[in-house]
Amino acid sequence: PKVVLAYSGGLDTSIIIPWLIENYGYEVIAMAADVGQGEELDPLNEKAIKTGASKIYIEDLKRELVEDYIYPTLKAGAIYEGKYLLGTSMARPLIAKRMVEIAKKEGADAVAHGATGKGNDQIRFELAVKSLAPELKIIAPWREWDIRSREDAIDYANARGIAVPVTKERAYSMDRNLWHLSHEGMDLEDPWNEPKPDILELITPPEKAPDKPAYVSIEFECGIPVKVDGAALDPVALVEKLNKIAGENGVGIADMVENRLVGMKSRGVYETPGGTVLYQAHHELELLTLDRATMHFKELVASRYAELVYDGVWFAPIREALDAFVDSTQRTVTGTVVMKLYKGNCTPAGTKSPYSLYNQELSTFSRDEIYNQRDAEGFINLFGLPLKVRALMEKNAGLK
Ligand code: ARG
Ligand code: SIN
Repeated sequence: PKVVLAYSGGLDTSIIIPWLIENYGYEVIAMAADVGQGEELDPLNEKAIKTGASKIYIEDLKRELVEDYIYPTLKAGAIYEGKYLLGTSMARPLIAKRMVEIAKKEGADAVAHGATGKGNDQIRFELAVKSLAPELKIIAPWREWDIRSREDAIDYANARGIAVPVTKERAYSMDRNLWHLSHEGMDLEDPWNEPKPDILELITPPEKAPDKPAYVSIEFECGIPVKVDGAALDPVALVEKLNKIAGENGVGIADMVENRLVGMKSRGVYETPGGTVLYQAHHELELLTLDRATMHFKELVASRYAELVYDGVWFAPIREALDAFVDSTQRTVTGTVVMKLYKGNCTPAGTKSPYSLYNQELSTFSRDEIYNQRDAEGFINLFGLPLKVRALMEKNAGLK
């Protein structure tokens, strides 16, 4: 029987290969996903085979990540607990989807992943697999084996002649892709500790950023960014370009304590340079183009959307239904936003749209036709009626 393993070439997923062979008798097919983690994946080919895999698939998922996961989430305005732009959360269902496709092609009967039993990632991988291929068995070695520490894992690798990647003895738990880089663990586990500035890899610490602001203009079509500084870019290049300019200017650091789905709180530092600029620019454009009722309802959708992305409920009817709502709101979210980036700050410096609702009617009708100040009195009388009735009752009943 065959199993498809989500493989990174790191210590953990390397030892999973012999472990699956020894404990399940599986033929192991490795799948390495390029989600923009900035590593050369070709060397994994030889490495996976040496470690015992029968085959490896190296999949470039960058464009799909941006178009099918990041853009819908951006259009929804989804931010988890007010800070987290969901970089890891969005990549997991995509990786799981490709694993499932390979499993079907290979006639495998299981998939395996290297996420621990304490985190969110296991949930995201497995919910996606359940949605897409309910017949597949899922194996999560971290929930089964006795390996508890990096030292245990190194011993396990050494005993099987697996080369251990030379890294710092203990390191932060990091997850990087095109959208973000997350840091968890070590000194960050105490929320009283300020993050050391040298943990940042994508972003220049604001205090070291240039003393002059940078301006960047972003053009959106129906809620999707299509041009940066006037140049049409494919989605991957667009995010990369914004990552660079925002990173240089210290923009996009989020430091937070968050609620994991498994019940515990955890502390993380996220670097999402380009994403931060895109979210803020998109919001500016919505302020110009959405009516009040739609915008306020969309805020509710955004918070629910963030929760379901965080929870890994991606391939689900609720997400598709919310996407339909969001897409309907985005029909007029077209226009250009200039953002000013300065030492960690990102502020609007100009917004325009052919569908702007700002002052629109005032330019087409004479002032008194569209807004008569006398109408305001009646409006306020009726709008305030329940408040007045309540106050009269309190007065008559002697409550006040
Ligand atoms: N806390 C974030 C999340 O739940 C980031 C997780 C990072 N994952 C990792 N394997 N290092 O989405
Ligand atoms: C893990 O436990 O695999 C990483 C952290 C998380 O999933 O939240």
